[in-house]
Amino acid sequence: MSDAAPVLPGTDAPLGAGELVVLIDRRRRRYLVTLEPGGEWHSHAGLVPHDELIGVVEGSVVRTNRNMEVTALRPTREDFVLKMKRGAQVVYPKDQAMIVGAADVRPGCTVVEAGAGSGALTLALLAAVGPEGRVISFERREDHAGIAERNVQRFLGERPANWELHVADVVTSLPALTAHRVVLDLLEPWSAVEAAATALPPGGIVLAYTPTVPQVMRFDQRLWEDGRFTDVRTTETLVRPWDVDGLAVRPAHRMVAHTAFLTTARRVPSREQGGPPPPRRKVDTGGRIDWEAVSAASTLPAPAGGEGDHTDDRS
Ligand SMILES: C[S@@+](CC[C@H](N)C(=O)[O-])C[C@H]1O[C@@H](n2cnc3c(N)ncnc32)[C@H](O)[C@@H]1O
Repeated sequence: MSDAAPVLPGTDAPLGAGELVVLIDRRRRRYLVTLEPGGEWHSHAGLVPHDELIGVVEGSVVRTNRNMEVTALRPTREDFVLKMKRGAQVVYPKDQAMIVGAADVRPGCTVVEAGAGSGALTLALLAAVGPEGRVISFERREDHAGIAERNVQRFLGERPANWELHVADVVTSLPALTAHRVVLDLLEPWSAVEAAATALPPGGIVLAYTPTVPQVMRFDQRLWEDGRFTDVRTTETLVRPWDVDGLAVRPAHRMVAHTAFLTTARRVPSREQGGPPPPRRKVDTGGRIDWEAVSAASTLPAPAGGEGDHTDDRS
């Protein structure tokens, strides 16, 4: 079925055929559904005909044929990303927000992104650059690119005109481009540092999203070795949900703890061309780290890829 033009959550428009909705039950479980005339949504607690949802306003409650109440809303981007089909593991919403902030992705920016994976971060970047900006995504796996394309189209209702998706290796493709920002979510971001330095004019920002400490160390070292980056910073974002229930107000028992580190750096002219000097390192490894051995020892399990699975296992 074709994707409907998206309606912003928070309007008076009734839910229409072809629209995405999120159904929330009394235990706060969420289900993502595309409304189709004559369709049915089935759950462990009965079914709801889509026709009972088409035409109601957001926030309406409907009952399954076994009397379970569900509330129907248009999904936020977070609802969608956590329930959409995945190939590769997605950038979690808390990190998407930080990436947009840390890389200063603004309306009008041209952002190169790799790998596109499941398209979760792509959606956040497209929202941040707005219609005046551009997102150029690279994904070297055709199957992942296909999933990213379907997810972007499903959420936005169309393939945006300001989005390019290339099935290609970012390391070889990037040097031919000019971008304000380069955002890397791939296993070996250090391999793209030289290409990023070529694509970014001075002042531009490169950002890498990496789950393990050795990846952070290696990316950081490569940035300084290149000589065209400064202001290298690494952060981690922890978001702790709270349960608020009358007088019982406390941190939730479960949270998504570690996902990945964000490392950002600013592109500058090289030292010979008037750029800043490298920092004085307190601990100089003297190049003695066997990175292959460190990477092998810290490799994460293969991607699980299931819908709604929040474990992190980037590839
Ligand atoms: C963890 S996933 C990216 C997830 C994505 N950011 C999202 O939020 O849905 C990493 C992706 O990078 C791709 N990849 C790895 N190295 C690459 C490269 N050199 N060029 C392009 N894509 C690459 C992999 O195929 C994989 O799909």
